[in-house]
Amino acid sequence: MKKYFTQKPIVYISAAILFCFPLSKSVAQDKTETAKMNAFVNGLMKKMTVDEKIGQLNLVTGGMAITGSVTNNGIGDGVKKGSIGGIFGLYGTESVRKMQEAAVKGSRLHIPLIFGLDVIHGHRTIFPIPLGMSATWDLGIIEHAAHIAAKEATAEGLNWVFSPMVDIARDARWGRISEGSGEDPYLGGKVAAAMVRGYQGTSLKNADAVMACVKHFALYGAAEAGREYNTVDMSKVAMYNYYLPPYKAALDAGAGSFMSSFNVVDGVPATTNKWLLTDLLRKQWGFKGFVVSDYTSLNETVDHGMGNLQTVSALALKAGLDMDMVGEGFLKTLKTSLQQGKVTQADIDLACRRVLEAKYKLGLFDNPYKSLDPQREKTEIMTDANRKSARVTAEHSFVLLKNANQILPLKKSGGSIALVGPLADNKRDMLGTWVIGGEWEKSISVIEGIKHIVGDNVKINYAKGSNITDDTAFMKRLNFGPGMVSLDKQSPADMIEDAVKAAKKSDIIVAVVGESQSMSGESSSRSDISIPESQQLMLKALAKLGKPIVIVLFNGRPLTLTWENENAAAILDVWAPGTEAGNAIAEVLFGNYNPSGKLTTTFPRSVGQIPLYYNHLNTGRPYSSGPTKFKSNYLDISNDPLYPFGYGLSYSSFSYSNLKLSKTKLKGNETLTATVTVTNNGPYTGEEVVQLYIGDPAASISRPVKELKDFKKVNLQIGEKMDVTFNITPKQLKFYNSQLKYDWEPGEFIIQVGTNSADTKAARVQWVK
Ligand code: BGC
Repeated sequence: MKKYFTQKPIVYISAAILFCFPLSKSVAQDKTETAKMNAFVNGLMKKMTVDEKIGQLNLVTGGMAITGSVTNNGIGDGVKKGSIGGIFGLYGTESVRKMQEAAVKGSRLHIPLIFGLDVIHGHRTIFPIPLGMSATWDLGIIEHAAHIAAKEATAEGLNWVFSPMVDIARDARWGRISEGSGEDPYLGGKVAAAMVRGYQGTSLKNADAVMACVKHFALYGAAEAGREYNTVDMSKVAMYNYYLPPYKAALDAGAGSFMSSFNVVDGVPATTNKWLLTDLLRKQWGFKGFVVSDYTSLNETVDHGMGNLQTVSALALKAGLDMDMVGEGFLKTLKTSLQQGKVTQADIDLACRRVLEAKYKLGLFDNPYKSLDPQREKTEIMTDANRKSARVTAEHSFVLLKNANQILPLKKSGGSIALVGPLADNKRDMLGTWVIGGEWEKSISVIEGIKHIVGDNVKINYAKGSNITDDTAFMKRLNFGPGMVSLDKQSPADMIEDAVKAAKKSDIIVAVVGESQSMSGESSSRSDISIPESQQLMLKALAKLGKPIVIVLFNGRPLTLTWENENAAAILDVWAPGTEAGNAIAEVLFGNYNPSGKLTTTFPRSVGQIPLYYNHLNTGRPYSSGPTKFKSNYLDISNDPLYPFGYGLSYSSFSYSNLKLSKTKLKGNETLTATVTVTNNGPYTGEEVVQLYIGDPAASISRPVKELKDFKKVNLQIGEKMDVTFNITPKQLKFYNSQLKYDWEPGEFIIQVGTNSADTKAARVQWVK
C-alpha cells in the first residue's frame, strides 16, 4: 500500500494560545497605553494647522501598482507640504524610505506616512486565492499564511494591508467572490479573525506586523446580478444575520482599520453613510480604529446622486469617514466647508486623530523606518520556508469534486499521461487575482510540478490543446495588463488535433483547464460561468476517445460544470493555487497529499439558479420531491446545486454513524453535546472536515433551513474510528429578530452533523428558556 504523507491537522487552540497575550493584557495596562497615546496625539495636534490636519486624511497611490481608473500627481511635494497622510501602491525599502524621509525630514511636523498595499493572498510568495484558502477550513493554516504575507510586506517597507476582504457572496457571477471566504457568515467570521491575527501579530509595533484593513464595509458582496459596483438592496434582518458577522468578527479580533465599500447600504452610499460608519461600526460595535474610503468611492457618491464633491466630502466626514483614498475630495474641499460652517473643526480633528492614532499604534512615531531594513528585504522574501507554506496551504485548499472508480491518485511510475489544456504549461495564471508583488515568472507550472514528482518514470505527452478563449472581444477585456491572454499561432482545430494525438498515445488524460487569472477578481463579473468554449471543445473532442479524463480545474468562482461532472472521471478543483501551484497540484495528483478541502460556496448547475446558497429560507412552498406544480422550483432544472456548500471528497472515504445527543430536552444555559462516529473506510489516511449545522424550524422570523455552527478538521488513519463531539450552547441558537434583538427563542432545534451541508445525520431537541 502506498505510504501517505499527511500533515497533522493544525489545532486551532494553538493559535489562540499563541495570541492570547494581547487579550490577557490588563485593563490597567491598556488604560496607561491609551493615556500615553492621547497625550502624544493631543500634543501633536496642537501644533498642526488645518491644512496639515486635512493632509492626514489624504491617501494617495504611489503609482507602482495602479488599482483604479485615476491616480495622483505631485506626491513628493505633497508629502513635504504635509498634504498627504499615507501612500499605497509603493513598496520596496528604497522607494519607501525615500518617501518616508521626505515626510519625516522634509515636512514641518515630521509626521511619518503610513504605507499600504493590496496584499490579499501573500505579498511576494503567493498563496491560494482567498476563496481557495477558505476551502482548507484550517484556521491555523490561514493565520500562518497571513503572517507570512505580513513578514514579506513589512520586509518591503509596508505597514498596512487592504485585507481581509470579508464580504459574504452568494452570487458566482461576481468576480470578487474569489477574494473572500464564500457564503457562510460563521466560517467567514472565523477566517476573517484568523487573518487579522496573522497580519497584526501580538503587537502592531512588531517589525513584522501590518495593520489589517477590513473590507468592503459593507455588503459589497451582495451586488445585484453579480455585476461589479452595482446596487445592493437588503433587509436589516439579512444584513445582521448573514452579511455583517464577518466584519464584526474581524473587528473583535482587533483589526485596526476598515474600508468603506462602493455600494449603497439602505439607499445611502457606504462612504457617506452615517448609520453604517458611526452608529453601527463605532457606537454599536465599539470600533476604535480609522475608516478609509475605497478607491475614489467618495467622489463616486456624486454619481450615486449625493451632491457635488464638496457636499459629499462634508457628508462623508460627518458620517465617520477618516481617510479619502485617491479622490482628494477631502483635500480639495474640507477647508472651504469649514469656513462655510458645513463641517466643524471637531469633525476634522476627530478624523485626523484617528489616523494619527493608527500611526502611533504601529510605532511609526517611535521609529518611522521600523520596517525598512534592507537586510530583511534580501532574506525574508520568497524563502524556501515561505514557498513550502504556500505549497502546503495550496494542497489543503484543493477540493476533489469527483473521483470515479478511484482514478486518483495517479501512479508515480509506469504508463503514460496526456497532459493537455492551456493552463498546463502556464506560469502566469497560477497566481490568481490580486498579486501586486507576485512575480508570475517565479511560479511553478503544472508540467514542472508533475516532472518534479515523476521525472521520467511516467511518459508525459503534452499538448496545449486550446486557447484560454478564442473570443477576441472577451480577450480584450481580460487583457487589462499586457499579454495576460493571447491567441496561439496554431488554429484552434490544429490545437485540438494535437491534444487528441497526445491522448491517443496515453493511458489517461489530465486536462488543466478553467479560468485564467483575469477572469475573476475586481471588475471581472461574468454572466456565463462555464469553462470557456474553446476549452470545452477540446474536452469534448477528448471525451470521444473514451479514455479517462482527470480535470484539474482553475477557477476564481464556482463554475457550472454539469457536462464535466458527467464526462470526466475526476475533477480536482485547485482554484488559483499561487506560486507553488504546480508542485502542490502534483503532490495531490500523485497521492503525496490526500485532498481534504471543502467548498465554502455552492456550485450551481446553471447560472439561472443564482443566487443559490445552502442557508436559504424554506419558503411557504418548499419543493422536495414528487409533482412540481405550485411548488417553489423550476420547470427546466432541479433546485439542487451541482456541489453543495461544505462538499469535498477524499481519496479515502469517511462514514458517519451513531449521532448521539447528551439530551433531547434542555433548559436555559445548559450545554448540549452532539457526538458522531466518523470512520475512515478507505485505503488512505486522510483529513475530514466534520460539520455541525443547526436548524430552527419555528421562530418569530423565518429562519434558514440550516446554519453552520461549528466544524472540526480531523485526521484519521486507515480503518480508524473517531468520536467527534460538538458542544452546543444557547449562544449558537441566537439570531437577530425583526427588532434586531440578538437572542434565541425556545422551541425545537434540528441538530445536524455531516460531511457537507446536504449530507448530514439529524436529531431533534426541545430547548426551553
Ligand atoms: C478595491 C479595493 C482595493 C483598492 C485599492 C479598489 O478598487 O475595491 O479592494 O483595496 O482598490 O487598490
